[in-house]
Amino acid sequence: MSPIFSDTTFDFVSNSVEQTRRLGARLGALLTSGHVICLSGGLGAGKTQMAAGIAGGWDALEPVSSPTFVLVHEHTRAADAMRLYHIDCYRIGGPEELGTLGWEDMLDANAALVIEWPERIDAALPAGHLWITFSGVEDESFTRRRLLFEAAGDPHNALLSEFRRRAFGSMPE
Ligand SMILES: Nc1ncnc2c1ncn2[C@@H]1O[C@H](COP(=O)(O)OP(=O)(O)OP(=O)(O)O)[C@@H](O)[C@H]1O
Ligand SMILES: [Mg+2]
Repeated sequence: MSPIFSDTTFDFVSNSVEQTRRLGARLGALLTSGHVICLSGGLGAGKTQMAAGIAGGWDALEPVSSPTFVLVHEHTRAADAMRLYHIDCYRIGGPEELGTLGWEDMLDANAALVIEWPERIDAALPAGHLWITFSGVEDESFTRRRLLFEAAGDPHNALLSEFRRRAFGSMPE
């Protein structure tokens, strides 16, 4: 018998910002240490909305600080010592600037990472990750977004399978 969820990619259209946040929350609830979620797409595509959903589903307490011009948000939660780092690479020139942000420590920590504009730091990204590409869908209300999920490496394949099962139930192949 072949596994039901062997796919490493998955495609979905979100119809609203609420739906994107709910999906993020579903994903956030599944995150464990070492998971890396890359959120790719243009300005206003919905990356930060999904990141907020992920943090909520993960059970983050309020961010320690939330000035606008911050590249890394460190989230904590009451349940355990795990951390969730939300990194926005839009203003990062390239991987060489990551050192000053404590990149190596984030990778070594008991933490999961959510990265906006991951293509800016392509060369530094861990090989294992879940990549989500946001793109626009032609519609009159401008509230639809196509989300393409692509998993690389075993833990992230399993993460995507479980996410898909929980968010959408089992679907016939
Ligand atoms: N289906 C949808 N999913 C997500 N956001 C949506 C959706 N429909 C409308 N929106 C709106 O699009 C905007 C997305 O903003 P957001 O900050 O998440 O974008 P972003 O991808 O993080 O952009 P940036 O690259 O500037 O950081 C919000 O204003 C949100 O309300
Ligand atoms: Mg953003």
